[in-house]
Amino acid sequence: MCGIVGYIGPREAVTVLLPALRRLEYRGYDSAGVATIHGKNLEVRKTAGKILQLEAILERSPVRGRVGIAHTRWATHGRPSDGNSHPHVDCASRLAIVHNGIIENYRELRKDLARDGHQFRSQTDTEVIAHLIERHRANGLAEGVRQAALQLQGAFAIACIAGDEPEVVVAVRRGSPPLVIGFGDSEVFLASDIPALLGETREIVVLEEGEMTVLTAKSVTLHTLDGHRVRRTHSIIPWDRDTAEKAGFPHSGFPHFMLKEIFEQPAAVRNTIRDRVDLEGGDIRIPEMGLTDRDLVGLNRLCFVACGTSLHAAMVGKYMVEAFARLPVEVDVASEFRYRKPVLDGRVLTVPISQSGETADTLAALREAREQGSRIVAVCNVLGSSVAREADGVLYTRAGIEIGVASTKAFTAQLTALFLLALKLGMARGFIDRALARHLTKGLWEVPDLMAGVLELNEEVEKVLAIGKVASRFAESKDFLYLGRGIHYPLALEGALKLKEISYIHAEGYPAGEMKHGPIALIDARMPVVAIAPKGPTYEKMAANIEEVKAREGIVIAVVTAGDGEVGGEADVVLPIPPAAHWLQPLLVAVPMQLLAYHIGVLKGCDVDQPRNLAKSVTVE
Ligand code: F6R
Repeated sequence: MCGIVGYIGPREAVTVLLPALRRLEYRGYDSAGVATIHGKNLEVRKTAGKILQLEAILERSPVRGRVGIAHTRWATHGRPSDGNSHPHVDCASRLAIVHNGIIENYRELRKDLARDGHQFRSQTDTEVIAHLIERHRANGLAEGVRQAALQLQGAFAIACIAGDEPEVVVAVRRGSPPLVIGFGDSEVFLASDIPALLGETREIVVLEEGEMTVLTAKSVTLHTLDGHRVRRTHSIIPWDRDTAEKAGFPHSGFPHFMLKEIFEQPAAVRNTIRDRVDLEGGDIRIPEMGLTDRDLVGLNRLCFVACGTSLHAAMVGKYMVEAFARLPVEVDVASEFRYRKPVLDGRVLTVPISQSGETADTLAALREAREQGSRIVAVCNVLGSSVAREADGVLYTRAGIEIGVASTKAFTAQLTALFLLALKLGMARGFIDRALARHLTKGLWEVPDLMAGVLELNEEVEKVLAIGKVASRFAESKDFLYLGRGIHYPLALEGALKLKEISYIHAEGYPAGEMKHGPIALIDARMPVVAIAPKGPTYEKMAANIEEVKAREGIVIAVVTAGDGEVGGEADVVLPIPPAAHWLQPLLVAVPMQLLAYHIGVLKGCDVDQPRNLAKSVTVE
């Protein structure tokens, strides 16, 4: 996955492109580059490494021009190197392109172009696009891009500029890689996603699959690749410069986006509940789902599809929906969904869950479900993202922009949204009456305040050790085991995932009852075991598992209800959470898991906002 930006207007392009590129850095950060047109000259600077390195090059060797494109790369074809970085140029260095996606037939094209005398300078699939456009440019840049796009196979988004046509930026989208056009005052922006345009414009148009656009400072035209004119109304996004500043560019006082986002969870949860819950009447309103109570009664199954952290939220959602609505629920790893020939029809509600709304596997699962006749309601955080646009309805999490690669506030916002969805289903299907709904929603309403209390674990309070100090005791451990039961089993998986990706320590999440079937053999005095054991239906069983760990000299870090002397007394380290209804505990348990992973990662000197080899979501394989 890569990030693309473009600009044409009265300002120096680089002053717009670099901040936008930084907002896209989560999409890839192993190389970066920029191309502008100054007079009729194409100026290109690019480098392996992060955007900071590109900025240093631009400092020494600035580029000028009021039209430009830029790119941040996550390598797929060709290792990260200066030569493989984008933009790529044609033989004559007259045109430059940036690209997100994969060109499947690039080998054949490359051979064919080489036979024609085109000289290649990189190992990328992208460079063939520049040469292909060069081949087809007789009737201008736009026609060249169109002809080239028709010959390319794969899924891609491309932006292109040319020194001899300095008044235009041409862009095209085939398949899933997103492209958004932003409208300013006599200036036009282009980007891989909406957050990149944050603070510049609120007026946007999303380029659909199989469309291309020609941008000038004063006009934007849209066409299908077979030449038909497209007219589309502009959308207004509800983010402004203020939101951008609040979103923290840079991260307003916190040392990392991850920590900032962990601390934003009370607000993320509150925003996700806001105006959807009638506390007095005990009602839930989610009209954006586009489903009537009758539709909900008519369902015979629900199917969650998601990846990574979103998958763990789905697993918690299964417990909630089955308990509140007595509706059978399946949870599928999105990347596996299409390989198991899922049995779906109009009575199955498929719910893709995705923070970014751009994860390729989740999008593919959504499309598979649609093909099988299922209705689709997405749980998604990014407005206007591909998942949100392709679903029949959307239950938006309102976590705000998540910059840290490790998902934190989006996860707890997803748990909140799924709690609301489960309640809504339970009420419609007659398993939850208004009194119970009032009780449950009141509990949910209190969660943000309880979370704020758990966040205090970041500091030393009374007798409770600051989580940073706990982390320092375990930062050198080689392996971790996370145990949970029932609704906390997915939290054990999530805790282990956070630790792995942030600190590179091997960690396994396990249903605690499975310990005796093998993993118990691993436990010894060097093995920290995070046991999730707040008061609730699985408490006694967890207490027994903790004793088993202690009997093998394992080190127990227990997440327990504050004041629990029993399990708490057995544990080596206690991470307390306040008392809360069983169904809401995952929202609180998530916080110490995240803080522990964060602090261990920081202590080990890891780049917690951008772990190696990880991009925030994978749009194109
Ligand atoms: C882990 C993490 C990933 C994402 C996964 C799905 O911290 O961030 O596991 O959860 O890549 O991404 P979305 O939710 O954007 O589809």
